[in-house]
Amino acid sequence: MDKYLKANRALWDEWTGINYRSNFYKVADFKAGLNKLRAYEMAEVGPVDGKELLHLQCHFGLDTLCWARLGARVTGVDFSAAAISQARALAEDVGLDARFVQSDIYELPQHLEGGFDVVYTSRGVLGWLPDIERWARVAAHFVRPGGFFYITEIHPVAQVFDDDEGVRDLRLRYPYFGHAEPITIPTKGSYADRDAPVRQEFEYSWSHAMGEIVTALTVAGLRIDFLHEFPFAEWPLPFLQPAADGTHRLPPEHDLKLPLFFSLKASKPNG
Ligand SMILES: C[S@@+](CC[C@H](N)C(=O)[O-])C[C@H]1O[C@@H](n2cnc3c(N)ncnc32)[C@H](O)[C@@H]1O
Repeated sequence: MDKYLKANRALWDEWTGINYRSNFYKVADFKAGLNKLRAYEMAEVGPVDGKELLHLQCHFGLDTLCWARLGARVTGVDFSAAAISQARALAEDVGLDARFVQSDIYELPQHLEGGFDVVYTSRGVLGWLPDIERWARVAAHFVRPGGFFYITEIHPVAQVFDDDEGVRDLRLRYPYFGHAEPITIPTKGSYADRDAPVRQEFEYSWSHAMGEIVTALTVAGLRIDFLHEFPFAEWPLPFLQPAADGTHRLPPEHDLKLPLFFSLKASKPNG
């Protein structure tokens, strides 16, 4: 495994416990029955009752188990051993049937067999991946003919701006287009708890342009059903403001001027 992916995996092993206990994830609410999935993604994915759903980069399985609560037969995949063991414990704790597999996404075809009705991934996944074409091939590989792939994720446009604490205006900082060498960011706790102590010094990430994402999925054999771009983000960024519905938006004078989040559905034709 690449040295950057190894370092990121060690970081995610550390972040798992911090995130699980954090107010950001509100695991207690989930245990009490709250569905953490967003209304728009449930509407866009549609009914999953009885469907086989594969969740790529599932972290400790919170969203995976929400799909299970809606009746899906779920498999979650993540490369962090800590995340997978926490996901299994959480499933047992709430009495939900779920399968969790520890694997780097790029190696998944060597560790998991079969096809799925829905291949799902969401919120904070693509930036960890150096090779978007290889990612798309893996995602498409697991979609059964007649099934579909679905992603909801931060928009690549929203990721070009300086996100240092206290930066309120839009300052170009990160590349929009894909690049070989990772962006190296000094670690400051976890995104779910900035004050938590963490041993890993850096996180490594990659940008992927929207055209690169769409093209990679198409070349991998999927047909794009829709690409929706949203004027909100699902987590805070210093240049955004909290909105009444729990999302985060540009200040009123710039609202609706830039895409901040997106969702995409792509199908594998039958036969
Ligand atoms: C922000 S989480 C996304 C899950 C979900 N949105 C959440 O917030 O719980 C990103 C996940 O990607 C996983 N990940 C990063 N790189 C990976 C890789 N190469 N293969 C498999 N999982 C990876 C991390 O371990 C982490 O659990």
